[in-house]
Amino acid sequence: MNTQVLYVSGTGNTAAVAKEIFQALPSSSKDIQELDHAKNPLSADCYFIGFWANRGTANVEILDFLSELHGKKVALFGTCGMGNSPEYYAEVEKKVRAFLPDDNQYFGSFFCQGKMPIRVREKYESMLGGERAQLATRLIKNFDEALFHPSSEDFRNAASFARTAFKNMEADL
Ligand SMILES: Cc1cc2nc3c(=O)[nH]c(=O)nc-3n(C[C@H](O)[C@H](O)[C@H](O)COP(=O)(O)O)c2cc1C
Repeated sequence: MNTQVLYVSGTGNTAAVAKEIFQALPSSSKDIQELDHAKNPLSADCYFIGFWANRGTANVEILDFLSELHGKKVALFGTCGMGNSPEYYAEVEKKVRAFLPDDNQYFGSFFCQGKMPIRVREKYESMLGGERAQLATRLIKNFDEALFHPSSEDFRNAASFARTAFKNMEADL
């Protein structure tokens, strides 16, 4: 089965996960591209589509691309500043998946945390003296944890997700 890994990545976290997913795919016919540069993006049978969480959803270019897919086997993956929160990841997945037309087959998603630019921490620090100090403390803790992600464990989990999803795609020929 012809398999395409397509992703968008602003600072490299999602790109790194995309590469792990690509390497793990036991397909003899596979390709990986940044969505911007995708050539013939509608020609594959299976898609692993990656994005970074942007205000709780994905960039419009990802949502537009998903909405154009028909009759494909599709899995999603993403990186989020928010760490270790299956509930949050499920919310992001739901919002993004809503753009995938029903005539595609969906094979699940993988999410992990991804480090954020230092200006984000600076913004949280500026909140420390005010009414939202407690929230700022939590956000700074999350920011500092994110510095270690995607981690080698995240990469292993992404690879394992890719192998399982691909196996299911194949079984469902
Ligand atoms: C403008 C902007 C909006 C973001 N919105 C969210 C968000 O809503 N939820 C979240 O968990 N992380 C959010 N993040 C953090 C990124 O999703 C996270 O750092 C991601 O790993 C970046 O991936 P990349 O390196 O592939 O660009 C945001 C980052 C930016 C720059």
